[in-house]
Amino acid sequence: MSADDFIVTPWHVEGDIDYDKLIKQFGTEKISSELLERIKKITGEDHFMLRRGIFFSHRELTRILDEYEKGNKFFLYTGRGPSGHTHIGHLVPWMFAKWLQDKFDVNMYFQLTDDEKFYSKPNLTLEETKKFAYENALDFIALGFNPEKTKIIINTKNIKTLYPIAAEVAKKINFSNTKATFGFTNETNIGMIFYTSLQSAPCFIEDKPVLIPLGVDQDPHFRLTRDIAPKIGKQKPALIHNIMIPSLEGPGGKMSASDEKGTIYTTDSPSEVKNKINKHAFSGGQPDIEQHRKLGGNPDIDVSYQYLRIFFEPDDAKLKIIHEDYKSGKLLSGELKAILIEKINSFLAIHQENRKKAKNQIEQFLFEDK
Ligand code: TRP
Repeated sequence: MSADDFIVTPWHVEGDIDYDKLIKQFGTEKISSELLERIKKITGEDHFMLRRGIFFSHRELTRILDEYEKGNKFFLYTGRGPSGHTHIGHLVPWMFAKWLQDKFDVNMYFQLTDDEKFYSKPNLTLEETKKFAYENALDFIALGFNPEKTKIIINTKNIKTLYPIAAEVAKKINFSNTKATFGFTNETNIGMIFYTSLQSAPCFIEDKPVLIPLGVDQDPHFRLTRDIAPKIGKQKPALIHNIMIPSLEGPGGKMSASDEKGTIYTTDSPSEVKNKINKHAFSGGQPDIEQHRKLGGNPDIDVSYQYLRIFFEPDDAKLKIIHEDYKSGKLLSGELKAILIEKINSFLAIHQENRKKAKNQIEQFLFEDK
């Protein structure tokens, strides 16, 4: 793989991603300024993740809005492969989904794919992925979704509901489709080969249009779902994609839940957050203070700055000052890290409280098979 190459699939992300190229490769649509205006007009708010291009691409979001304006409601769907504890990068599409739920007052489904992570991770048992599914559900609930309108689906638990839908889907996807989409080989286990039909199933759980906020690495599954939807008499799911969240150790690759050092978990203590960022957060600063003052830092590659931009500093005016001061050399890397540490720790203090409360709410959120 050469320096300007990159790979984006659900199970493997590598290299420095060029998002305009990715849009072309995947055949999605860039979120245009007209579309941004339209969303702003409907929701009455200019969400910073849209404004800053954290959500940068979509498939048929305009159709969802057309229908909504005609009075036809859609529902939301997203999910998580429970391969470990939740890290802060996972919260990006979930927080955005929560905003969408508030603005549009719609139903939301959250799928926990304990089966998928059992199939795809050689070292995880089904017991472990089930345990992480429960842990991840707490983080999801902690974000404040409407308990009346939100259901959590756990694949191994809710298979009774999912299976008949998955069977409809599976019959229309052949091996050469999945092979071409995911690069499967003869050695790939057959759980993986069937898996897309389970991730597709929640798209058709209600007879309404669905909008899926998701990391762009998950797009290939829904490309297949969209292809087969008309063949089973269903509407194609619409998607809105977020960029991959960099790991602490730098750009190129998403934050991975299996790499302890490069990851901030929602369960980390304030001192763990502080140590991880100080030790591991990739810096765009100069090697020493003298040079930094003279030459300034590079916020574009600085992970601490990027976390502020993506998530932790929604205020544009404040972010701009940080950007300028870092670039000019006025703000040192250590000072920038200190800003981020403070932001993450105050977020986590509240999140961890809500996560505790979620233990008493979980029953209410779990989907019940009929
Ligand atoms: N496969 C996803 C993951 O590994 C989990 C998932 C299931 C998902 N359904 C989804 C992600 C719908 C986005 C949208 O994390």
